[in-house]
Amino acid sequence: MISARFAKWNLIGVSIALTILFLSISPTAEASEWQRFFARLHPAYVHVPMGILLFGLILTILKALRWLKDGDNMINIALVVGSWGGLQAIAAGSWLGQLSGYPPDVLFLHKMLGYSVTLLSAVLVYVHFKSPKPALVHGGWGILMLALVVGGDLGGSMTHGEGFVTEYAPAIARDILGHPDPMNERFELSTPTLTSVYDGIIAPIFSQKCTSCHGEDRDRNRLRLHSRESISNHKGDEPLIVEGHPEESLLITRISLPEGHEDQMPPPLNARPLSHADVELLIWWVAEGASFDALIADVAIPPHIVTILEAYGLSEIRRGIFALDVSLPDSNAVAALRLTGASVDPLTSDSPFLSVRCGSNAKCFSGDELGTLGPHIAWLDLSASTVSDSDLAVLGELPHMTRLDLSGTGIDGAGLSSITDLEFLEYVNLYDTRMSDDALEHLAAVPTLTAVYLWQTAVTPEGVLELRNAIPEARINTGETN
Ligand code: HEC
Repeated sequence: MISARFAKWNLIGVSIALTILFLSISPTAEASEWQRFFARLHPAYVHVPMGILLFGLILTILKALRWLKDGDNMINIALVVGSWGGLQAIAAGSWLGQLSGYPPDVLFLHKMLGYSVTLLSAVLVYVHFKSPKPALVHGGWGILMLALVVGGDLGGSMTHGEGFVTEYAPAIARDILGHPDPMNERFELSTPTLTSVYDGIIAPIFSQKCTSCHGEDRDRNRLRLHSRESISNHKGDEPLIVEGHPEESLLITRISLPEGHEDQMPPPLNARPLSHADVELLIWWVAEGASFDALIADVAIPPHIVTILEAYGLSEIRRGIFALDVSLPDSNAVAALRLTGASVDPLTSDSPFLSVRCGSNAKCFSGDELGTLGPHIAWLDLSASTVSDSDLAVLGELPHMTRLDLSGTGIDGAGLSSITDLEFLEYVNLYDTRMSDDALEHLAAVPTLTAVYLWQTAVTPEGVLELRNAIPEARINTGETN
């Protein structure tokens, strides 16, 4: 028979033991050999008392239903054994935590729930004697079971991956335990034109899978992966990262080892493994130069990486002017420009950017008719119009122009000095004009150009060669095969 005295001293003893465990096992210390042996038995130490507590719960329910007359002593024995088993599980679990690479915040919560279950078991025995009101006893059991289920779920999530326990659970249970959709939460992919590959993709992999052992609190092999500085300053026997060469980077070779290799990172027994996609993303980052600043939208993304990132929620990357936040054009200004005979159309149905074609009416975009439309004009077609070089000064007021067609006009290009500050200009067509070598310098000053048409103009092969050297990325078409 468990007595009231025993219940009291059990509660005092368990409380003292819990305090000692909490204070004496530091989460960041290094477990000794025999502690490691004991630690690996944590799952067994957890599940046995759990079963015994469940037995106590069943007896309590049977008693509440009056199907059982006097189960109190049995229930109390179950709770006492549960509290002692809890102490053992906490000790083993705390050492296992030292070895493992599980996320410290989840680990801490899991641990606190373990402490709660253990303490509550001892408290409940005491309550049985001190104030055995059904409401108090049943409420206590409710809280105990909640702590047990949530704590167990966290434990399962850490060892087997988020959502392991609830994967096949009914939707309600999943909502209560609050497992978000892991695919869309993992990386920061919503603003690829503002987020760097490092911040959005690489740092989350390190913080989820590496920094519990290689971070601020712990630095196994003096390696810390929690910040830009710590990564760039790592001094090991072999280089951690060789920019552009994943195969020579220790960071990559250690995560690409075959299953079971003793140098494999993360260590297979104590940490969540990297997924195949994680490994591919890290290789990609190093191959692209391991930059900490390069934006997702600005680096080359090979097809297999596109596939991975799309699965994690990356949508089409908006580049150039399409990444800008530009309001819709004023409809009165559009109507006024149309009155000059120009055709004015949005690039796509809801785009703030316009395509403007002047036809033979060269004056269609003189400063006045343009009104407030300057920032909206992306494509400007002045082909076969009577536009002159002096008219071209207004091009400097079209900061978002990407395509300019001047083919079949009488210009010699002197007026193109106005385009040198345009940041988005990609395409210039000067086919069938008097364009001269002298004016090519204006084109050479626009590094964003990707296509230039100079067929049937006054430029010489030497002039074209110089232009090619100045803007090597651009395709320069002179009508000759080259
Ligand atoms: C459970 C703890 C743990 C986790 C998690 C972990 N490591 Fe390690 N790592 C170690 C230990 C211990 C060493 C030192 C022993 C060794 O070299 O195997 C080490 C060594 C390394 C080294 C060698 C450093 C050098 O200069 O010698 C690299 C590189 C490395 N880890 C990368 C990673 C990466 C990348 C991750 C995440 C994907 C990771 N580790 C996750 C424990 C861990």
